Amino acid sequence: MSQASNLLLTPFTMGALTLPNRVVMAPMTRSRADNDGNVPTDSTVKYYEQRASAGLIISEGTQISAQGVGYVSTPGIYSEAQVAGWKKVTAAVHAAGGRIFAQLWHVGSISHPSFHNGELPVAPSAVQPKGVQAFTGKGMEEIPTPRALETAEVKAVVEDFRKAAANAKEAGFDGVEIHGANGYLVDQFIQDGTNKRTDEYGGSVENRARFALEVVQAAADVFGADRVGIRLAPTGAMGGITDSDRVGTFSYVTEQLNKLGLAYLHVIEALPGHPMAAAPGVPAVAAHLRKIFTGPFMLNGGYTQETAEAALANNEADLISFGVPFIANPDLVERYEQGTAFNMPDQATFYSGGDKGYIDYPTLAEAPVATEQ
Ligand SMILES: Cc1cc2nc3c(=O)[nH]c(=O)nc-3n(C[C@H](O)[C@H](O)[C@H](O)COP(=O)(O)O)c2cc1C
Repeated sequence: MSQASNLLLTPFTMGALTLPNRVVMAPMTRSRADNDGNVPTDSTVKYYEQRASAGLIISEGTQISAQGVGYVSTPGIYSEAQVAGWKKVTAAVHAAGGRIFAQLWHVGSISHPSFHNGELPVAPSAVQPKGVQAFTGKGMEEIPTPRALETAEVKAVVEDFRKAAANAKEAGFDGVEIHGANGYLVDQFIQDGTNKRTDEYGGSVENRARFALEVVQAAADVFGADRVGIRLAPTGAMGGITDSDRVGTFSYVTEQLNKLGLAYLHVIEALPGHPMAAAPGVPAVAAHLRKIFTGPFMLNGGYTQETAEAALANNEADLISFGVPFIANPDLVERYEQGTAFNMPDQATFYSGGDKGYIDYPTLAEAPVATEQ
């Protein structure tokens, strides 16, 4: 592909790190963790090692506590065995010349009692998620109305994030991304459709943003703010999440984040036609946040090399993260460099478990192909 500009493949200084390119691997749950303890396996080591030419890898969502679990076969970072498993991943990525952040995750209401000894999942308020089911050991199951966290419990969850960040540091991660997107716990606090609290964590936008900001600060206390990012999805609808003033709410959060000096702000605002694209009538938010945020800005959602170059050239972002293209193309960066063909992703193996569709996508050197992305 001929490029008018070639920003995507140029280095970028992001907080404490200098990335060799602006092609970031987006966080992606792959449901391959060892179910007996939610530990990353040797296949996971291989999977990330294969993708080390990314400017930055952001790990799959990684639970900060047992309470934060909502899906079967997903890894955590709260036990010694999990930290030991992640140490192998970070060592392999570093040996291959890469950089990797851990995405710290608490699902909140998007869970099921089978993960919590029969107890209800927790959330800011007792608001039942809509349009989603829980992926448990038995398959897909109905998600019940969660239990609202007590104020003291909210503070305890902030401490769980702090401990998880410390564990991520011990495991050799270069930093952490707080999962504040896609209708999970941090997002549930931010948006007023899911936050009906009357304490200091609910009501005004200042109060609804408090949890997210405390969590980010806790991670920054551990790593330094220049090794911490946060992911937001202001136009997302996962779990039926909604806010009565998306632009106002996320602008406020972004203004507050400016005070911290973060490594980056990562915003999902999928391009039209993408499955995660905003519903009709939902206002665009990312462009507002780009103007407000004073640090490195990352966009995600349906980008190709061409649309990513255009977004960088138009100064819409400094970095672009790619999800599905990285599942199918471990050497995505080399493919962009060479402007050649791409492997097609196999949706059936996204969450299937096993090595098929996980660590067996060939590199260009292994199997030249001639398909379009
Ligand atoms: C298999 C799969 C798993 C995902 N898991 C996560 C996750 O753990 N955390 C997260 O923030 N987003 C997750 N996402 C969303 C992706 O990070 C990304 O936002 C989405 O795929 C759109 O980007 P793309 O069009 O480049 O794939 C996942 C997406 C896919 C396809």
